[in-house]
Amino acid sequence: MDDIAQAHNPAVPEFWLRKDPDSAFADMRREKAVHWHDEPATTWFPEGGRGFWSVVRFEDVVEVSRDQETFTSGLGTEIVDMTPEMVHIFGGMLNMSGAAHAHHRAIVNRVLTPRTVEALSDTIRAHAVRSIDRVATRGECDFMRDIVGDFPAQIICELLGVPVDDRARLVELTGVALSAYGTVQAYDAMLEIIAYAEGLVAQAREQVSDNASFLRKLLAAQVDGKRMSDHEIAVFFALLVTAGIETTATSIGQGMYALSLYPEQRRRWQQEYQDLAPRAVEEIIRWVTPVRYFRRTATRDTEIAGQPIAKGDKVVMWYTSANRDESVLERPEELDFSRPEDRHVAFGGGGPHFCLGAVLARREMAIFFEELFARLPDIEVSGEPERLHSNFVNGLAALPVRYTSA
Ligand code: HEM
Repeated sequence: MDDIAQAHNPAVPEFWLRKDPDSAFADMRREKAVHWHDEPATTWFPEGGRGFWSVVRFEDVVEVSRDQETFTSGLGTEIVDMTPEMVHIFGGMLNMSGAAHAHHRAIVNRVLTPRTVEALSDTIRAHAVRSIDRVATRGECDFMRDIVGDFPAQIICELLGVPVDDRARLVELTGVALSAYGTVQAYDAMLEIIAYAEGLVAQAREQVSDNASFLRKLLAAQVDGKRMSDHEIAVFFALLVTAGIETTATSIGQGMYALSLYPEQRRRWQQEYQDLAPRAVEEIIRWVTPVRYFRRTATRDTEIAGQPIAKGDKVVMWYTSANRDESVLERPEELDFSRPEDRHVAFGGGGPHFCLGAVLARREMAIFFEELFARLPDIEVSGEPERLHSNFVNGLAALPVRYTSA
């Protein structure tokens, strides 16, 4: 490891307890495009992992993202190495590559479309209103627990047709699967989610009267004469619940915090809400960067920005760093709704795995903040946020807020 990499190692849990990991990434970006990082011992790998390359600059993240042939997702997208079975269970299509991924993606693209999201808009609004109104008379609360709460989970459950009575258990399992990533408990939770989803898929197969349901559409969709198996649909279901909940909750929670740091931007947005919403939502997502990284594996000897990379090496794209790259954005640390264009990699750097839920996430945020400003217009952050301790999600555990009771 070079000196900077030694001083700033995002594989070490303490790195994420630092007050400002952004400045560590800024040091890394200034020094070199790519750094080698050792992986410390964990309960999973008592001797330590095999280490990885950290890609920290914007253009390199884009290049790696777009070249699946050289940098494959097929051997896992978490830093930690897993068995092929775990790679499949934890990621489904996220951890597939080549023709298999393209086929899978072509099928789900037919079902999870902008029209699907449009049709869900009234439901999204109803859940946003419910989430905000339940605390409206209190005057103060924890934004994360009491307001954002189960909002994104309810939306994914509505999309997938999960019965109301089953939702709490599903959300609980999703929490275990994400918080204990790579452990036996997480694996068991994922298996339970998939078994549950297989049951729902079997029921959907029988419900001939409900052809409009998401699962029935997935069962029917075919590309080149091939459909997804029930098991593949269940793994996709598990990916949607794990990919779609924490990410959106983080965007809304950290978004609220960002607006408190940049009151002028917030004032503008509240004054011209609809006009500014697409720009504001995108800039919040860039500023927050809810998913800090995804990993690839080199399929051949290659190089990134002149740094030789050997076949089999793990390559980690730090979106969190690329979205603060000062060679691409002016004053990247600032939230600024007047930036001329969207240049960020929060949904991935492009290429075949670009986030499938981006349209849904943007819509959820736009509706949520619209209802928040309408119902609690003077809501403000009233204390320090408590950050989640994670190298993967840039989330908040708590965010105190106060407002005039409705
Ligand atoms: C602001 C919220 C979100 C962020 C920041 C985010 C971020 C990402 C990122 C970085 C990727 C990987 C891109 C790549 O490897 O190139 C991804 C993939 C994915 N996301 Fe999202 N996501 C968000 C919300 C959602 C939601 C709401 C859903 C579910 C409806 C979702 C479903 C997926 C799926 C299925 C993939 C895998 C796509 C593939 O492998 O082809 N995401 N997301």
